[in-house]
Amino acid sequence: MTNESTSPDPDLRFAFGANWQDYSRLIDQEQIDASLSRMDTLVGRDNIAGRSFLDIGCGSGLHSLAALKLGAARLEAIDYDPLSVATTTAVLEKFWDGGRYRVQRGDILAPSLGLPSSEVVYSWGVLHHTGDMNRAIRAAASLVAPSGLLVLALYGKTRYCGTWTRIKRWYCQADDAGKRAAEDWYVRLFGAYLLLRGKRLKDHIASYRNKRGMDFLHDVRDWLGGYPYESISPAELDAILEPLGFKALKRNVKRRSGLFGSGCDEYVYRAP
Ligand SMILES: C[S@@+](CC[C@H](N)C(=O)[O-])C[C@H]1O[C@@H](n2cnc3c(N)ncnc32)[C@H](O)[C@@H]1O
Repeated sequence: MTNESTSPDPDLRFAFGANWQDYSRLIDQEQIDASLSRMDTLVGRDNIAGRSFLDIGCGSGLHSLAALKLGAARLEAIDYDPLSVATTTAVLEKFWDGGRYRVQRGDILAPSLGLPSSEVVYSWGVLHHTGDMNRAIRAAASLVAPSGLLVLALYGKTRYCGTWTRIKRWYCQADDAGKRAAEDWYVRLFGAYLLLRGKRLKDHIASYRNKRGMDFLHDVRDWLGGYPYESISPAELDAILEPLGFKALKRNVKRRSGLFGSGCDEYVYRAP
């Protein structure tokens, strides 16, 4: 499922945490409400209220905050990047005063994470960035309590996954000027792509805030830099989880094509 002929470079990794920290200054009530509504639609507040919740790869902390606001009995949040941990901690301290949470540094690939199993294990846009997505999916599944939910968002397969992997590798090693130039080119090309479809970049950016829990420019950096990078099809995910006894409950899978057609598909599975 990896997009590279060799294993991802273990020393090369996008600085997700710095991007999240910079973005977190923009979080306001509108973003929080949108994030809450997205989580309610995907997971369902009845499945969260009163349940233990683990957020793997918590990033900005916006999803963790939504889980607490939807009534999670106890939240554990982990992230590989210390700046993501610091950002999630700061966001929860600022917008939540009800306790019931712990944020810590943790690598989902670490042999012993020392986390209790949770009734909801949630990982949005994370496991494909670990360098070993299959193992990360199995590790996340192993943390779901009996009959609990496993909620994942993972990059869908397109014919351009290999191209994007090479671009992301390059971006991670580029100097600041190179990174800014790449972002500029990406925005121009994406603007032209939208125009061909009768849409305007200005409108796309204006409506972006509520779509993903990020603003357009930070998401461009997250996308261009997001390395390690892998992708997966629904059938490949089933092939990992069904032998473990998991049953698919929900799938938001888009038909993906074209250079700008990449994105995350969402999945909800029930544990045996
Ligand atoms: C694209 S961000 C997604 C953040 C958040 N889930 C969201 O959707 O807003 C990916 C996050 O996964 C974290 N991450 C990457 N590898 C990880 C690992 N092995 N264990 C835990 N977190 C990891 C990154 O540090 C980053 O904060």
